[in-house]
Amino acid sequence: MHAVTVQVPLTEPVLGPEEEQAVLDVLRSGWLVQGARVAAFEERVAAYCGAAHAVATTSCTTALQLALEALALQPGDEVIMPSFTFVASANAIIHAGGIPRVVDVERDTWNIDPAKAEAAINRRTRAVLPVDQFGLAADLNAVSQIAQLHRLHVVEDAAPALGARINGKHVGAISEVTCFSFHPRKTITTAEGGMLVTDSERLAERARLMRSHAASASDLARHHAEDVLIEEYPEAGFNFRMSDVHAAIGLAQMDRLDALIARRRELAAAYDRAFAAVESVQVPGSHAGFLHTYQSYCIVLTDASPINRADAMRRLKEQGITTRRGCMAVHLEPYFVKRFGLTRLPEAERLAARTIALPLFPAMTDEQQSYVIDRVWELLH
Ligand SMILES: Cc1ncc(COP(=O)(O)O)c(C=O)c1O
Repeated sequence: MHAVTVQVPLTEPVLGPEEEQAVLDVLRSGWLVQGARVAAFEERVAAYCGAAHAVATTSCTTALQLALEALALQPGDEVIMPSFTFVASANAIIHAGGIPRVVDVERDTWNIDPAKAEAAINRRTRAVLPVDQFGLAADLNAVSQIAQLHRLHVVEDAAPALGARINGKHVGAISEVTCFSFHPRKTITTAEGGMLVTDSERLAERARLMRSHAASASDLARHHAEDVLIEEYPEAGFNFRMSDVHAAIGLAQMDRLDALIARRRELAAAYDRAFAAVESVQVPGSHAGFLHTYQSYCIVLTDASPINRADAMRRLKEQGITTRRGCMAVHLEPYFVKRFGLTRLPEAERLAARTIALPLFPAMTDEQQSYVIDRVWELLH
């Protein structure tokens, strides 16, 4: 057997001297924890999205949990969410004391089906949690309309979707509260990190408070206080604080964001051109006016595929190409089946069984992509 000479990773963050310098500056400043950099990063993301407030956290999962806590979710309250998402969306609801009520997704966009969401509303429903899967906004306007009609909150899981838009309006400026992830597989990274954005001052204030043990005065406030300042803890909060080291990386990444998205979209368009007309796969769909950031580019094997997913991924791996399954269907995960019983959601199940995430990252060369396209093409014919 020949040694494989071409290696194509699934993804690769774009980090340069700007990020290195930003981290060094923080390390040398003597102030490492949540401080001026976090505040600047929050301002930057809020301004970018067009939201009034932003609260940085340790991850998108903790941002979601904080958002639900800030909305005063009560034990037993139901939150409607799509099944075809990372388990974090559901775990955040569970840890906030709620019950995830999973519904199916649209066949083309793979995002929550608003009609299915509406049909799942009952007297225990408190919120809807749409997910912008793979960087494409869910049908957020439809979700917000339904929520308004039924007096529900909307907590959007936009983990992969910073920069996504609907008719020019940014994700982050559409739902009541929106949460982003800065994990290295996302559009921009802070290593680990997350942020919630909202126009509600009350919600942002509550999230800020609970992010840091509900302390009556922050580390920074105590540091700058002229007199000794002894803080109090009137409630049991969390430590979901982002550090200034992480925020400094995030600030440098924000300078790159639009270029990163543009390159991702270019690569996605090349995959579309290669695979859109191939009967054995489905390519990502969209609604008119939606701008996809392609945090991941997935194909879905159809019944016409000559190869099953496991074998396809294995063959690509042997040829130096890293792939991943697109995502799970949360309702089929063991914890869910054990706690809530088995439900059937055909679209989510089809996608969970048949999606393959192909390599896509801004530094991917056209040669690397052609190699991937050729190898995938061989499998599908
Ligand atoms: C849809 C979705 N929600 C939430 C998360 C969790 O993000 P984080 O790792 O920042 O907690 C992810 C991460 O993969 C995700 O894809």
